[in-house]
Amino acid sequence: MSSVKYYRELLTQDQRIEAFRRAIHRAVRPGDRVLDIGAGLGTFAFFAADAGAGEVWAVDGDPIIHVARTVARLNRLAERIRFERGWIPDVELPGPAQVVVFEDFSPRLVDQRFFRLHTAVRSRYAAAGARFVPEGATVRAAPVGGPELLAAAGAWPDGETRYGIDWSATREYVMNSPVTNAVRSEALAADPVVVARVSFDRELVVEPPTPVQWISTRSGPVHGLAYWFDLEFGAGEVLSNRPGGVPASWGHLYLPIDPPLPVTSGDVLEGWAGPERLQLGLPGWLSWGLRAGGRERRGHEFCGAPASVTDLLGASPGSVPRLTSVGRRTAEILRLADGSTTLADIADRLVERNPGMTRAEALHLAFDALRGKIESGGAPQ
Ligand SMILES: C[S@@+](CC[C@H](N)C(=O)[O-])C[C@H]1O[C@@H](n2cnc3c(N)ncnc32)[C@H](O)[C@@H]1O
Repeated sequence: MSSVKYYRELLTQDQRIEAFRRAIHRAVRPGDRVLDIGAGLGTFAFFAADAGAGEVWAVDGDPIIHVARTVARLNRLAERIRFERGWIPDVELPGPAQVVVFEDFSPRLVDQRFFRLHTAVRSRYAAAGARFVPEGATVRAAPVGGPELLAAAGAWPDGETRYGIDWSATREYVMNSPVTNAVRSEALAADPVVVARVSFDRELVVEPPTPVQWISTRSGPVHGLAYWFDLEFGAGEVLSNRPGGVPASWGHLYLPIDPPLPVTSGDVLEGWAGPERLQLGLPGWLSWGLRAGGRERRGHEFCGAPASVTDLLGASPGSVPRLTSVGRRTAEILRLADGSTTLADIADRLVERNPGMTRAEALHLAFDALRGKIESGGAPQ
């Protein structure tokens, strides 16, 4: 749950908001049904109503949507807007939308959350020929250099020993972990190249990262890649997340390499960056690499994630999930929430069935297990 302060701060991002406003006015035709996914305080829903939409569905899983409803009433905008608390794809609409607005992107753009949301929107919420705001995005990457990047990744300049202990086994993890918003524009060591393109009105196909090339524009060590996306709104309008760009709402990524790669101005660098393609075509871990002067460096998010063999086997499709005691308790609470039993009664049953459990503890457990899974959209009301 985010604070109202956070949503008010979003309203100060004029460049982002105005780009959406212009695009919404271009996309909406009189009488359209518009779906605003992640409506927050309702800003884009208000723009859609103003643009002539017949009906606007402003949906957000966060309780901020109740504040948006109040703002709409205050501004006499509530008539054509339905405010719905819930997470797409768990919300039902009366019919498909001619315009879909969405802007809750992660710095990598295409991740599993976005992939699932996009697939559901195309199959269930968008009318044939629906218009999307934004229309799509281009993902770009460029080599970067600067000692501040190493620090941002979490590398220590003075060796890997602290308190008499050798911590070098931990360095590989941090140097394989993307860092958000760490790159200044001065760190770019070559002009960016396109590594992927996404059109939101088409099926999202995750391809394995393809090889690309850059020409180095300066001499010195290269410490990795900057990775970002430019959102496209049609009519030539673009919002870029590039290092040093505005707005920074979605952030760019720094993808470290270790050790740095020495490069001379004019050198050709080869490399790649993007999510791996998993089973069922889902996007997986980010993978990246750079080659120059016969040397190669690679990075892979998988190598940044501490996990035991048991953890990995447990996540494989062939494994048989066995519930822990916490899992069994959650399952029990979910069974008890049958649509007619009160939270207090659920807690009483838990106390009966679990000797030693206090009522306060049982209420707390029930509340926790149900959060985000009940019809009010989140915490029990
Ligand atoms: C960055 S905020 C943007 C709010 C608003 N559009 C604005 O510009 O001020 C993104 C919002 O999307 C919501 N959100 C993300 N995924 C969602 C989903 N699948 N269904 C409903 N809301 C979602 C979040 O709760 C959050 O409030």
